Amino acid sequence: MGVEEYYRQHAQDYENPHEEFIHHHLKFRIKEFEDKSILDLCCGGGEVTKFLTDRKITDVEGCDPFTHDVYVENTNLPCHKFDFKHLATKGLDKQYDVIICSFAMHLCPDSMLHNVLYNLSVSCDTLLIITPNKKPFIDDSSFTFENEVIYNRVYSRLYTSQFAKRRE
Ligand SMILES: C[S@@+](CC[C@H](N)C(=O)[O-])C[C@H]1O[C@@H](n2cnc3c(N)ncnc32)[C@H](O)[C@@H]1O
Repeated sequence: MGVEEYYRQHAQDYENPHEEFIHHHLKFRIKEFEDKSILDLCCGGGEVTKFLTDRKITDVEGCDPFTHDVYVENTNLPCHKFDFKHLATKGLDKQYDVIICSFAMHLCPDSMLHNVLYNLSVSCDTLLIITPNKKPFIDDSSFTFENEVIYNRVYSRLYTSQFAKRRE
């Protein structure tokens, strides 16, 4: 079964066994999210969103082509249905201060990654990738690497969009 088919079939019962580690990263960075508009990209069942909304950070939306219904059910927040292909070709239709992509950017095919990152950089100031992998290795002019935190073999990497300063 391919990745997409897996999430299509398991949207309802998806659980991230590393949720506690994701929350550790978000807690460490919580000040960076206060009063910000946030897109939870590849949002699953809302593992990132629920942590934020429990801490009164409520300007949050999700985006996931497979788990959007579960996300809306769990969070009561809006959810876009864009997949990586859409993000690579058309991008997002709105601006966010922060895009958080947890345990998912490594699923983006290498052939699409550059275009996905470019289009995300147009639509946000800050990108936070939380990942159990070294991948994706972002060596791309769309984003500047700011810092990395490692906790229990889970990484969170913060990037600034190439357009962030021009928008200030
Ligand atoms: C490991 S889950 C991560 C979910 C959540 N962000 C978390 O941290 O637990 C990967 C997510 O990527 C989404 N996904 C899989 N293939 C995708 C694709 N081609 N485009 C966009 N999202 C995709 C899945 O639906 C799933 O919600």
